[in-house]
Amino acid sequence: MVEELVGRVFLAAPLPPEIRFVLSEIVAGMAIPGRVAPPENWHITLRFLDTVNRVTYERFLGALDPVSETAFPIALDGFGAFPNPRKATVFWAGIGRGAEQLAMLNEEAEEAALKAGLSPEERPFHPHLTLSRIRPPVEVAGLIEEELTLSWRCERLIMYRSHQGRGGVRYEPLDSIDLIG
Ligand code: 2AM
Repeated sequence: MVEELVGRVFLAAPLPPEIRFVLSEIVAGMAIPGRVAPPENWHITLRFLDTVNRVTYERFLGALDPVSETAFPIALDGFGAFPNPRKATVFWAGIGRGAEQLAMLNEEAEEAALKAGLSPEERPFHPHLTLSRIRPPVEVAGLIEEELTLSWRCERLIMYRSHQGRGGVRYEPLDSIDLIG
């Protein structure tokens, strides 16, 4: 039997439209280097599954449900860079409030991924919202000084499927997982 592929998928916390809008206004006023991700692509990844088939995808969702975390506040509280601000390849908005809950959800997603038969994620979890990918790396120390305070209530998680096209990458929401309360 040919296995049905779902595609390249990841679990993430989405941004409400009004937060996307306000952050896009802030970002538009900053000279961010590299390929700035379009606002509709912004999210906070909890677990990247890569390319999975239907059985693995459904097992992951089944193992994740129900998530123990209730709805919780998330705050963006500044900017940062990977691997460091002197040689940045990723420029991101960082998480203040809500980072602990995101780490808990990452752990639950990791357990669900293992139950679904996926390999463990080796890289440590650093919750962040990628704003730009930079090649070659540049110094962004000045940009990191900029202030940022934006918050919202995280009420659901989304499974996204990544589509690579000529116009860049697009993330299609596949499933929504509601957090209680
Ligand atoms: P990033 O924003 O830090 O690049 C879709 O690619 C999402 O999955 C992005 O948020 C990306 O994080 C995240 N991700 C995590 N591990 C990944 C990997 N090995 N390859 C591609 N994306 C990954």
